[in-house]
Amino acid sequence: MSGKITINGQLIDFTDEKNILAVARNAGIDIPTLCYHPELSVVGACRLCVVEIERMGVQASCSTAPIDGMVVFTNSGRVNRVRKMVLELLLANHDRECTTCDASGACKLQKYANDYGIKRLRFPSRSQCEALDNSSLSIVRDPNKCILCGLCVRICKEKQGVGVWDFKNRGSRTEIVAAMDQPLAESACINCGQCIAVCPCGALSSNSTAIDEVWAALRDPKKTVVCQIAPAPRAALGEEFGLGSVDVTAKLVAGLRKVGFDKVFDTVFTADMTTIEESNEFLGRVTEGKNLPLFTSCCPGWVKYAEQFHPELLNNVSTCRSPQQMFGSVLKKKYTQDLGIKAEDMFVVSIMPCTAKKYEAKRPEFMTDGVYDVDAVLTTVEAARLFREAGIIFDSLEDSAFDQPMEQATGSGVIFGATGGVMESVIRYVAGKLLNAQGRVDVEFTRGMMIQRLPAYRLMILTKPGCC
Ligand code: FES
Repeated sequence: MSGKITINGQLIDFTDEKNILAVARNAGIDIPTLCYHPELSVVGACRLCVVEIERMGVQASCSTAPIDGMVVFTNSGRVNRVRKMVLELLLANHDRECTTCDASGACKLQKYANDYGIKRLRFPSRSQCEALDNSSLSIVRDPNKCILCGLCVRICKEKQGVGVWDFKNRGSRTEIVAAMDQPLAESACINCGQCIAVCPCGALSSNSTAIDEVWAALRDPKKTVVCQIAPAPRAALGEEFGLGSVDVTAKLVAGLRKVGFDKVFDTVFTADMTTIEESNEFLGRVTEGKNLPLFTSCCPGWVKYAEQFHPELLNNVSTCRSPQQMFGSVLKKKYTQDLGIKAEDMFVVSIMPCTAKKYEAKRPEFMTDGVYDVDAVLTTVEAARLFREAGIIFDSLEDSAFDQPMEQATGSGVIFGATGGVMESVIRYVAGKLLNAQGRVDVEFTRGMMIQRLPAYRLMILTKPGCC
């Protein structure tokens, strides 16, 4: 359906936008939202996106479709009064210890309270001081900050196909809990962290206990502390420090040395090893005609998903370790010998883009003689916190290179950080080997969302966006 609506006196065309909110945003008019996500179902729970529509009164713009001839006001006095009331009511139910909140500065509720000039609340706090769920190695849930927007429930169910989160009770007793109201660690959570990414107000955050473990190791004179860095955090860290989407690898390496790491290595080295291992495994399976198609094992979220929901596919999952775990194994088993130290005297830290890597590092199969191959995993945000705690001014760092001998790597390993990258690397390697090609082999059909065309090729399937 297409037509024209008037928003704040401006005549605007619409075509296939499903709600007034989308029409307004496409026209450069912002409307605050807390429970809306363009790729998820619409529930209209928070009522912050209200607008005033002639002959219809105040309506939620996310759940009202545009109709030709509609006249809409997004910032009338009535609209602003309703939005302020909504914010005050949400804040009355919300733990307002903003200074100690992980989301401070990135919290949408905090931002809107500032935007709408809410300085004092008329309603007493109803926050209950309920216990945190920090049972998971990857995700912490603070029920005192939850505003019941339901974004975590919907992304887990609709996008990830897991459905760990859901509502419990009704009315003023409503809360969001993990399935069967059990601790998150005992649920089917795959640790992907997508619920953290959509949570607007700090009710879900990454389990950051690894930062203290890293500091303890750095201050322990008996420990050789080694860091590996995955491809994806390198540009993300630039954004975190306000440098934009630029590759800050050389500054990151320099900063880690300043923090106190003894060696800094590039996970791309073992991404290349993964490519070689997975490619040879694939060629072996093609020769035997068994267990095809081959699925990558690089993503621990996907591996746990397959274990829980599709055990019939486990024979199709590659037996190779992920690059993170290959590096941990190389460092603890081989590099310790080169340095003449015991595995327990080396502390291996990974900087990774995904919370599921924290869970992967603590899987029992990645432990030898009571020593984990990877001791601590930091997300990009946690790595930035490490720098800030160390008092490092990131953009003033001199560039520095990775340590030898594991500094050599190919572009194939780097593209593990992009959607379709693992598959492209493997197909390049396999094609080069089968065709006995000299030089570069380009394979473009796996890139980005073109991955959807893959079933026609029936070679290898990646289920997750770029990672390591
Ligand atoms: Fe529309 Fe929450 S964003 S009701």
